[in-house]
Amino acid sequence: MSCGIVAYVGARKALPIIFDTLKRLEYRGYDSAGVALLEDKRIFLAKQKGKIKDLEDGLKSENILSGIGIGHTRWATHGRPSDFNAHPHLDCSGKIAVVHNGIIENYNELREELRSRGHNFRSETDTEVIPHLLEEFYQGDPLQALQKAISRLRGSYAIAAIFTGWDKVFFARKDSPLIIGIGEGENFLASDIPAVLPYTKRVIVLEDGDTGFVSSAEYAIFQGDRKIERKIMEVPWDQQAAERGGFEHFMIKEILEQEQSIRDTLRGRIKEDGVVELSEELAPLADKISQLGRIFIVACGTAFYAGMAGKYFLESLLDIPVEIDIASEFRYRAVPVREGDWLILVSQSGETADTLAALRDMKKRGLSTVGIVNAVGSSIAREADVTLYTRAGPEICVASTKAYTAQVTVFYLLGLYLAKLLKGMDIRPLGKELLTIPQKVAQVLAKREEVERMAEELYKERDFFFIGRGMDWGVALEGALKLKEISYLRAEAFAAGELKHGPLALIYEGVPVIAVVTQEALRDKTISNIEEVWARGARVIGILREGDPLEKELALSFTIPNTIDYFTSPLAVIPLQMLAYYISRKLGREIDQPRNLAKSVTVE
Ligand code: AGP
Repeated sequence: MSCGIVAYVGARKALPIIFDTLKRLEYRGYDSAGVALLEDKRIFLAKQKGKIKDLEDGLKSENILSGIGIGHTRWATHGRPSDFNAHPHLDCSGKIAVVHNGIIENYNELREELRSRGHNFRSETDTEVIPHLLEEFYQGDPLQALQKAISRLRGSYAIAAIFTGWDKVFFARKDSPLIIGIGEGENFLASDIPAVLPYTKRVIVLEDGDTGFVSSAEYAIFQGDRKIERKIMEVPWDQQAAERGGFEHFMIKEILEQEQSIRDTLRGRIKEDGVVELSEELAPLADKISQLGRIFIVACGTAFYAGMAGKYFLESLLDIPVEIDIASEFRYRAVPVREGDWLILVSQSGETADTLAALRDMKKRGLSTVGIVNAVGSSIAREADVTLYTRAGPEICVASTKAYTAQVTVFYLLGLYLAKLLKGMDIRPLGKELLTIPQKVAQVLAKREEVERMAEELYKERDFFFIGRGMDWGVALEGALKLKEISYLRAEAFAAGELKHGPLALIYEGVPVIAVVTQEALRDKTISNIEEVWARGARVIGILREGDPLEKELALSFTIPNTIDYFTSPLAVIPLQMLAYYISRKLGREIDQPRNLAKSVTVE
């Protein structure tokens, strides 16, 4: 989902410019790269697994004068990183080349249909159906062929395509970003603004349904067959700021991406009627599902807190014991293992040493292993029997935000899928409710000024306590971790019911206590815990459901849209992510790269 595509049409040699613009998309993460250039009546294609630099070095001896080309950096979602899976992809004739960012949900059926009509596929990717569709629809008008081809696609795409005999690059955009860069006697396409900044600050941000072309002298944008105009934006950013999408930090950019990252994680895995479909992804364990007896969830840090949401959800739906443990403990304790035990490893990077070690140890003992991983092709993803990828895209900020909500989302999908398979449960009502979560996330994100004002009132405090019950306890733990790791303030979370067993001694006049109160079933109990800290002078900040009367009684609170108890975690965590961000920003902290921490802890 966070591949990068670029295109150049102009009087200069395209190849060096394509490499340079691709390198400016490197921060998005990638595992392979490729270029295709138009040379008179043929297409020059070069692509391989690995770094852009390696590809560039391999072409040093080539003297390609072409001024028209497309390029791609791939962050694999379908098909492992490899030379043949790298983009661009060609049609059978080799006269059409395509690069794509996005996910084609119906690629399997399209591939079968095209194969039945004699098309040969050379890759495992979803993208490759596009050039073959173009080949079928092309009758002399590339743009018309592209418009017909995308009418067959379900999913998300930013596409750039070249056709021999045409000195233009054709594009289409839906749900994946694509911009036009407007130069002098040259024009560009790119997934993101940073790619073109050294060449032009004049860009057009394309919108869903836009198709069209760029040539050296002009560009044209269509909605359907109607030619339209779009505003040309003068980009005010420098390169660094542009990589953060103009935001001050990657952290706030990634927090605000969570509607899209959850939508992408759900995409193609849940139908509009709420039915969840994971059979293809879980195929290697298909014959093990019926004997599933117990689940271990093992992870570190934020991934562990996502696992807590998974534990509560899976246990309640499947009536199966779900044990959860932090990897650094799990791997050194004498874990009794039984036939039918599964191990689920949660890891954004897929390289965390303790989590990877737990995987290796338990695989040797015969457990079925499932990875919930963000980085495609990472060690955990490669070594687990099955990997259910989160599709949050690269998470640059050390403090994990969008990966957490995507991990919780994968647990929801897994729980619903297994509930239907193992318990015969009609999961459609829950599935339909799950489909409303991205929009509810958007509603929460839209209220970020409320959290910024809350941070104004709290940033001078020196201690913060977070409390919650049930799934809210996991959210409280994650909120405390976010705050401590970027603000360096003392932030601690407790199961609300534990206060009177000791932590209450820490409460003093005015200390902020953030109470996460979204579990209807446990609300009264949590309220009594709030009263315990209130009575001792704490300043209680509520993370509440819309309409909770408690809002009127608390000086500070933030409300989230209503949903069922299970699904509140991705909503309730966001104000805590933003609170950590705005408090740390007020304190002038580094934020994206906090002291002492690394994004991926590949050592014990
Ligand atoms: C979370 O904000 C931290 N960066 C850290 O706890 C992180 O979640 C932990 O190191 C696990 O990383 P992983 O998901 O890549 O395995």
